[in-house]
Amino acid sequence: MADKAVIQQRKSDHLAICRERDVEFHSKNCWLEHVELIHQALPSFSPSEVELRVRFLGRDLAAPFLIGAMTGGTQEGGRINRTLARVASDLGIGLALGSQRPMLEEPRLKGTFDVRAAAPDILLLGNIGLSQAMTLPLKRIVELMKSIGADGICLHLNAAMEMSQVEGDEPRGRSEGAIRRLAAALGERLIVKETGCGMARETAERLMRLGVKTIDVAGAGGTSWVRVENLRRGGVPAGRDELEEWGIPTAASLIELQPLLGTERAPRLRVIASGGLRSGMDLAKSIALGAQLGSAALPVLRVLHHAGEKGLRNWLAGMLAELRCVMVLCGCRDLAALRRAPVVLSGPLQNWAEQRRVRSRSRG
Ligand SMILES: Cc1cc2nc3c(=O)[nH]c(=O)nc-3n(C[C@H](O)[C@H](O)[C@H](O)COP(=O)(O)O)c2cc1C
Repeated sequence: MADKAVIQQRKSDHLAICRERDVEFHSKNCWLEHVELIHQALPSFSPSEVELRVRFLGRDLAAPFLIGAMTGGTQEGGRINRTLARVASDLGIGLALGSQRPMLEEPRLKGTFDVRAAAPDILLLGNIGLSQAMTLPLKRIVELMKSIGADGICLHLNAAMEMSQVEGDEPRGRSEGAIRRLAAALGERLIVKETGCGMARETAERLMRLGVKTIDVAGAGGTSWVRVENLRRGGVPAGRDELEEWGIPTAASLIELQPLLGTERAPRLRVIASGGLRSGMDLAKSIALGAQLGSAALPVLRVLHHAGEKGLRNWLAGMLAELRCVMVLCGCRDLAALRRAPVVLSGPLQNWAEQRRVRSRSRG
């Protein structure tokens, strides 16, 4: 069993480094800047008439947004989680909690993830890493989710981060069995997510064959976890600086998964967009590329740190207001219409789509 103190220290380091240091990709953006929605100059409804409500895992969300998985396991993480839960509840959006590994090692840390009382109705997601999930009985993982009243659990994939972490787990084979068992037991309540390196179609197809129905692409262009780990160890190990920029940008990941989505009536795969989403415009573009929900982690942590709970509420409300305006300007009254809206891809994203043989949707 990993040293409890080491895990808690790592969680504290991650929060401090992400708040204060330059942890985002440098040479790569999330490529949503290469997606253009089409302006319709004759709006026929107002922002307040736009319908943003969406149902996800049996919960009604007021808007298609999820605060991304970040923390828990330390007293500070517990305080942040309770604040995030209040803000999510006020705005009617979802909240994904950070890895519950600390509470596996030390059960009294459950309190730092226990936010259901502060937010009885929100979409709430638990979290565990694949490396841990492979060593745990299925019952314990289901119990992790249930014990905090979560609606589902995110299984995070973080191979690049683990290989950069001093005390990280090397990737191993034989993860399929664990994922298949989890998918069979949890169905739609299992969400497989990356942590900033994105999702290729081949990986998504493998996951789907194992029974996975929802994927959060967590693409490249936002927080770089290899960079975070390098900052934690005090520098880039000799000859390994390229890995900090590794991954499939978020917009390219969404394009990769488009052929797997199925139809609105008969969905095959549900996709959450994250990794570098920073605005209502990014959220709108992600939905136009097929996502059900968008999610962000780093800006939420930073706005909370610098502007407090009220500031975070205002920032998120502003982002959703921008989404409404963009939808008015595209002539999309609801999310289903936005998902059908035509988009134009440019630059490297257009090249990516062509080379990976995905045709840009233009079904306007
Ligand atoms: C401080 C911090 C801690 C995180 N911890 C977790 C975690 O415990 N589990 C997880 O699945 N993802 C974790 N993430 C990754 C995010 O959920 C997200 O996938 C990634 O940061 C990309 O989104 P962003 O660019 O909006 O930050 C964390 C992110 C941040 C900023």
